[in-house]
Amino acid sequence: MSVWWYIGGGGILALLFFWWVFPFFFHGIPWQPTDMVRVRRMLEMASVQPGEVVYDLGCGDGRILICAAREFEAVARGFEINPWLVFLARIRIQFARLGHRVRVHLKDIHTVDLSKADVVTMFLFQHVNDRLEDKFRRELRSGARIVSYVWILKGWKPLDTDPVKRLYLYIKQ
Ligand SMILES: C[S@@+](CC[C@H](N)C(=O)[O-])C[C@H]1O[C@@H](n2cnc3c(N)ncnc32)[C@H](O)[C@@H]1O
Repeated sequence: MSVWWYIGGGGILALLFFWWVFPFFFHGIPWQPTDMVRVRRMLEMASVQPGEVVYDLGCGDGRILICAAREFEAVARGFEINPWLVFLARIRIQFARLGHRVRVHLKDIHTVDLSKADVVTMFLFQHVNDRLEDKFRRELRSGARIVSYVWILKGWKPLDTDPVKRLYLYIKQ
C-alpha cells in the first residue's frame, strides 16, 4: 500500500477525532459546568415539583438533570451536542441509578421539541438565547418556566432574578 493511503487514512482519523473531541469549535459553546450551589438554586427558583419535566438545553455532564431527579423528583431530559459529554452524562446517570427518570439525547437544542417541558434550564451564550426566544414562544406551553444562568432573554421580563448568582427566571405567558 502506498504511503499516501496511510497519510490519507491518518488524516481522516485525525479529523474525526478533532470533530469528536472539540465540537465546540464547530458549535461555539464550550463546556463549563454550573456549580452545584447554582444548580440547586436554579431548580428552586423554578419551583420544580415532583413529576414535572425538566429540560436542560446543552446538558454537559448531566448534573442539572441528576439534581432535578434526585432532589426534586422530576423527570429530566438533557440535550447535548458533544458526544463525549453525552457519554459522560449517561455514565453518571447510571451510577446515580436514575436511568428510569433521566435521559440524555445527542441532539442540537435548536431541533428539540420543547412542548412537553415544564421547566427549561440553560447556561449557553447570549446569541444562542436570542435565537431560542422565538422557539420558546412557539413551543413552550403557557406557564412553563425558564431559568437561565448568566445570559438573559432580551424580549422577556424576568419574574425573578438572583443578581449575585446571575440567574434569571422567566415564565411563558
Ligand atoms: C456552559 S455548558 C453548560 C452545561 C450544563 N448545562 C451545566 O450547566 O453544567 C454549555 C453546554 O451546551 C452544549 N451545547 C452548545 N451548543 C449546543 C447545541 N446547539 N445543542 C446541544 N448542546 C449544545 C455544549 O456542548 C456545553 O456542554
